[in-house]
Amino acid sequence: MGRLFHFSDIHFGIEHKGAVAAALEHAHTNPRDLVLITGDITQQGFRREFAAAAEWIRAMPEPVFVTTGNHDVSYWDPIARIFHPWKRFEAFIGHPAVDHQFEAPGLSVRGVNTARGWQMRLNWSKGVIDLEQTRRAAMALANAPEGNLKILACHHPLVEMIGGPMSGEVIRGEAAARIFTDCGVDLIMTGHVHVPFALPITMGDKCSYGVGAGTLSMRERGAPPGFNCVEWDASQVRVTALGWTGSGFQPQRTWNLERRSMPKAAALRAAASIQG
Ligand SMILES: [Fe+2]
Repeated sequence: MGRLFHFSDIHFGIEHKGAVAAALEHAHTNPRDLVLITGDITQQGFRREFAAAAEWIRAMPEPVFVTTGNHDVSYWDPIARIFHPWKRFEAFIGHPAVDHQFEAPGLSVRGVNTARGWQMRLNWSKGVIDLEQTRRAAMALANAPEGNLKILACHHPLVEMIGGPMSGEVIRGEAAARIFTDCGVDLIMTGHVHVPFALPITMGDKCSYGVGAGTLSMRERGAPPGFNCVEWDASQVRVTALGWTGSGFQPQRTWNLERRSMPKAAALRAAASIQG
């Protein structure tokens, strides 16, 4: 069986200090294969916020995998937003904003950047996904060893969480979700919404799932600060959302998700068919 902890939206600058410290302790005291962090590690992209985020991330047990979020650009710096939005993130965190990949026995993770420094629309916090990045990620995950849990990690949910407190409105999100589903990606793991969820993506064989982690910040949207514990074996993935009680984390909800068994050859054929 495998296990990972999925954190998101810590928003250093307005982080929930008690929950952040307890999350670090939880990650150390429970066995895991990976600590996954799906963006919005800072509130406004200030150096001091990145420094605090980097310190917390460095204190996490290895291995750690971090993706960018829309709050991880320098909020007040238009030059950085336009020309080098992820320079500070990459300098402080040391993880690439694009084409990030992680492999371990039984587990393959690929990162795609869905955040932008600016956009041709009014709300720059919404998501955008590049289909070339998507195809590269789909091919990389299709190449995973047979039976590995295949995870695509990004900040914005690619398909909307119906009834959620926030939308991602990801440009090309549905097209990307279709590609990942067709290529046998098991989980699309995200943040942004600040509440936990695990839902089947209603495309293809309906055995790809959108999994969202809550926040560890003070920006609560109807759920307490928390994170997800994701456990898997050959036939099932179990997602447990843990929520802050005021003194510790308690399980709040569990989802049991049935795993597909797509042979590697079929995943590679699907990935090859969508290369541009
Ligand atoms: Fe956020």
